[in-house]
Amino acid sequence: MAKCYRCDDWASVFACVLLAILSNTVLASPPLPPSGDDMHLGVATCAGSTCHGAIEPFANSPVLQNEFITWQRKDSHSEAYSVLLNDQSKRIARNLGLKSAQTAKICLDCHADNVPDGKRGKRFQISDGVGCETCHGGAERYLGSHVSGQVTHQKNIEGGLFPTEDPLERARLCLSCHLGNDDKFATHRIMGAGHPRLSFELDTFTAIQPAHFLVDDDYQERKGAWSNVQTWAIGQTLATRQYLQQLSSSKRMDKGLFPELAFFDCHSCHHSMKQQRWASRDSVGLEPGSIRLNDGNILMAREVASVVDAGLAKQISQQMRALHQASQQSKSAIQSQAKKLLGLNQQLLDKLAGYKFGKSTTLKVANNVIKHGIAGQFLDYSGAEQSVMALDALFNSLKAQGAINYAPGSPVSMGMDKLYNALGDEDTYVPERYITALKSLRKAI
Ligand code: HEC
Ligand code: HEC
Ligand code: HEC
Ligand code: HEC
Repeated sequence: MAKCYRCDDWASVFACVLLAILSNTVLASPPLPPSGDDMHLGVATCAGSTCHGAIEPFANSPVLQNEFITWQRKDSHSEAYSVLLNDQSKRIARNLGLKSAQTAKICLDCHADNVPDGKRGKRFQISDGVGCETCHGGAERYLGSHVSGQVTHQKNIEGGLFPTEDPLERARLCLSCHLGNDDKFATHRIMGAGHPRLSFELDTFTAIQPAHFLVDDDYQERKGAWSNVQTWAIGQTLATRQYLQQLSSSKRMDKGLFPELAFFDCHSCHHSMKQQRWASRDSVGLEPGSIRLNDGNILMAREVASVVDAGLAKQISQQMRALHQASQQSKSAIQSQAKKLLGLNQQLLDKLAGYKFGKSTTLKVANNVIKHGIAGQFLDYSGAEQSVMALDALFNSLKAQGAINYAPGSPVSMGMDKLYNALGDEDTYVPERYITALKSLRKAI
């Protein structure tokens, strides 16, 4: 039987199984940190100088122990609450008719560790923003055991530590705020009030967070290892799942003439009329002047499928096109089509669980992404952006396997710089420049 994180007796095993069947969730998924039962003790509890608050990494410790300093000085999650006090947030709050951003649940749910009062320990401070326990889970039960160092990682997880090392669970965690889920969502209403556009790729964002952990031999022994390409592939497939789940949910579709606009490519509505970007895309099949769903993650999931199971990739292509067609018909057509695609995507996720990408498959995915990009399949900004982050993850994976030279200044790395430049400013993005950059990258490989 699959692992069930909170079942220590038969009564709760039964309850868990029942719950899993009822809610159709994956049995092994633990609750996300804000929904767990444990008390959140506060960043101060983790930040002692002999715990995670050391100035320099400890020499003989399995973990770095300076995680707090990295988080506080370099990781913008430590600023997530304080940005709610700035002028941009004040304006957003005013436009939404909120008393203030820093007291509004809608903002705090993504910009802080907004657990209920009863789950806040003595040293908990909401102003800590997205702190340790927002990602690692309330420390009430695992605090003691994990400090002792005598307990396995698995035991800590049973004590409420969230399994952030598992790319699937990590993606579910990050995407809860960087895309949204049933509990919270960055709607077009929030964006219309002035909130920035969101986009996410698990492998890239894990690196630029920046990482406060080191995947060395000892890490791999404790937690296993996932390559950049696996992290990317699982991240995209899970983002597709989360996107399609929201797209098919009546919660996001109930009001007004249009479906939730945050599901669409922002630039299919927002760009200067002087700049004419429209081009026909086979994979979409829409007429000029149509708004297009943001298919950035689905396009990448299809690239993953193309090496994992070619038949499945073909089905995904067909159903994705059908989804774009449905978007021109009705909300119910979108919902039922999204559900079909969701089923195929789940098959892909299941296949990925045991799939290992070797050098040649990784290279094949990279070449496919370049080829399909040049053929004009990722022309919308959201798709182009995902393709560039994908290539970065894929090249990092190939570099780690010694298959390419991806050092700064190398031809591939310079090709990537050009690509990043072509996407540098979304408001002045010109698809032709993106394609030119892809062509010169193809030469560099
Ligand atoms: C679904 C989660 C979510 C919700 C709800 C949300 N935000 Fe955000 N917000 C984010 C994420 C994620 C980012 C970072 C985006 C990035 O850089 O990729 C962000 C970025 C921002 C930024 C820009 C920060 C910077 O460093 O420039 C501001 C300002 C902001 N949010 C304010 C608000 C306010 C005010 C509210 C409430 C009305 C709110 N947010 C609600 C997730 C959310
Ligand atoms: C935005 C989410 C996030 C926040 C905030 C965060 N972490 Fe992490 N942390 C991660 C991820 C992802 C990993 C890497 C996967 C893993 O090993 O679990 C990680 C890894 C770790 C590790 C494991 C290193 C190892 O070698 O096993 C420690 C220790 C850690 N974090 C401590 C902290 C502390 C202390 C804080 C607060 C100061 C913090 N983290 C804040 C996401 C986060
Ligand atoms: C509780 C909500 C939440 C969770 C969970 C979360 N983030 Fe964030 N993240 C935010 C917010 C809010 C910001 C913007 C903070 C700011 O700008 O001050 C942000 C910013 C970032 C940024 C900086 C983006 C930029 O444009 O510079 C990165 C990178 C990032 N997050 C990665 C991750 C990763 C990786 C995970 C999962 C391990 C994760 N986040 C989990 C809310 C969250
Ligand atoms: C179907 C078309 C459509 C799509 C798709 C769309 N928007 Fe909008 N957006 C609008 C309209 C209409 C307004 C209101 C413009 C106004 O009041 O002048 C607006 C307003 C905005 C504003 C405020 C502009 C202002 O003048 O204050 C922002 C920011 C914004 N949208 C961001 C986004 C983002 C980010 C996305 C993608 C997630 C997106 N929009 C997708 C139609 C769209």
